[in-house]
Amino acid sequence: MSDLAKLNAAQAALTYVKDGMVVGLGTGSTSAHFVRLLGERVRQGLRVKGVPTSEATRNLAEQVGVPLVEISQVTTIDVDVDGADEVDPRFRLIKGGGGALLREKIVAAASTRMVVIADESKWVDVLGAFPLPVEVTRYGFALTGQRVRDALIETGCVGDEVILRTSGKSNEPVITDGGNYILDAHAKAIAKPGELADALKRIPGVVEHGLFLGLARTVIIGKAVGAEIKES
Ligand code: A5P
Repeated sequence: MSDLAKLNAAQAALTYVKDGMVVGLGTGSTSAHFVRLLGERVRQGLRVKGVPTSEATRNLAEQVGVPLVEISQVTTIDVDVDGADEVDPRFRLIKGGGGALLREKIVAAASTRMVVIADESKWVDVLGAFPLPVEVTRYGFALTGQRVRDALIETGCVGDEVILRTSGKSNEPVITDGGNYILDAHAKAIAKPGELADALKRIPGVVEHGLFLGLARTVIIGKAVGAEIKES
């Protein structure tokens, strides 16, 4: 059900891609649907160049035949299509569940239009039930985590637990494409996303955080049948 909704959102996003465009390629399962669909269009003759937001997306795009361009070779990106972990009615997002938030934010900020594709479960009234990913340098990460916790408390979040993201049986820390760690900040409810974003950016050791504010212009909510397109 949810995977079909993701596929329907991805399908609807294709209308934003025109011949000759440079396209930001997001990361995650919804974005993966989009990349595969874009590959089909390329085989039918559509000419685009993709800028991947992760090594995983780069690999997928290469497999399905979407031509790529290095971000250092472009001055602007026409459209960025990416998933989200949460979206609120003001089009504010939590991203980074897949750990790619740094590149995702660089690409989103460089794009003329960011199109978010998501299933209905991602639409929320208040951000924060999904733990907020914060990418931090490995050096001093535990101290940085304490400062992140302080920021949650100072900006009125309901929760204040901050957990180093690990994976595998041996619980090794997850390393991002940029070589950093991810702290998951369990804010539960983020009362003031703008204030929290500012506070996090002031912490030495924070590389980037998963609050995407003022970036999304279009949100496509996929359903079991079809998709709803919302424009800001
Ligand atoms: C990747 O770092 C994330 O920002 C994803 O875009 C987000 O987690 C959505 O993933 P799904 O499309 O798999 O739900």
